[in-house]
Amino acid sequence: MRVVLSLGGSVLAPELDASRVADHAAAVERVIRDGCDVGIVVGGGGVAREYIGTARELGASEVELDRLGIDVTQINARLLRAGFGEGVEPTLADGYETAEAALRRGETTVMGGVAPGQTTDAVAAVLAESVGADLLVYGTGADGIYDADPAEHDDATKFESLSPEALVEEIAPMSRDAGASAPVDLFAAKLIQRARMRTIVLDGTDPTAVADAVLTGDHTGTDVIPDGGTEPTYWAP
Ligand code: UTP
Repeated sequence: MRVVLSLGGSVLAPELDASRVADHAAAVERVIRDGCDVGIVVGGGGVAREYIGTARELGASEVELDRLGIDVTQINARLLRAGFGEGVEPTLADGYETAEAALRRGETTVMGGVAPGQTTDAVAAVLAESVGADLLVYGTGADGIYDADPAEHDDATKFESLSPEALVEEIAPMSRDAGASAPVDLFAAKLIQRARMRTIVLDGTDPTAVADAVLTGDHTGTDVIPDGGTEPTYWAP
């Protein structure tokens, strides 16, 4: 099975901790050993936001701020790559084509952001579409897709599953509210819809839970299931 895994920077490196990074790399190694081809896209998290906030105070343009964010995502990608043990040496990709080529050779690949004006959520969706991934997994700080922001609404309900069309409908208003943070950005949601991509959004904090979700489909987050879409055959008992 070909999998693209998006790991939020807030999940991988909320602060610098070698054992946390090693645990995430070990979880990916488990997925690879089980027989999956894996492309990983790493986010920038709080560190990116701190750089962006500081540079904004200094008067940097929005594009410059995005470039700072991209640099942090790429540092985090390099950090994750350093966490892999003997035998797995992921290709550090600086763009889609390098990542695609590595995946087609059956190599693991790690990358960060690529272009201003988006987040790594979208990068993961583009990579997944371009390599025809069987599964796209977002390991984020949120534990799924809710019908309202759970931080603001006590009665917000988590979707166990929803269609890509419903995902776009749920995400669109969240993305319009200034300062609101959707678990997956709107551009990514539209790409998931276009590609009819089987997707999981789950809390990425526990690397074991992320690996279990990839290998078995069992998790406590949200499944995005295209109408008429079938389960990855990899999960068949
Ligand atoms: P992230 O993908 O980490 O954003 O990119 P995020 O969703 O806020 O963070 P997580 O999920 O907690 O990790 C950080 C910033 O880098 C820039 C954007 O400014 C983004 O907010 N970026 C990233 C780009 O401009 N282009 C990219 O392709 C990726």
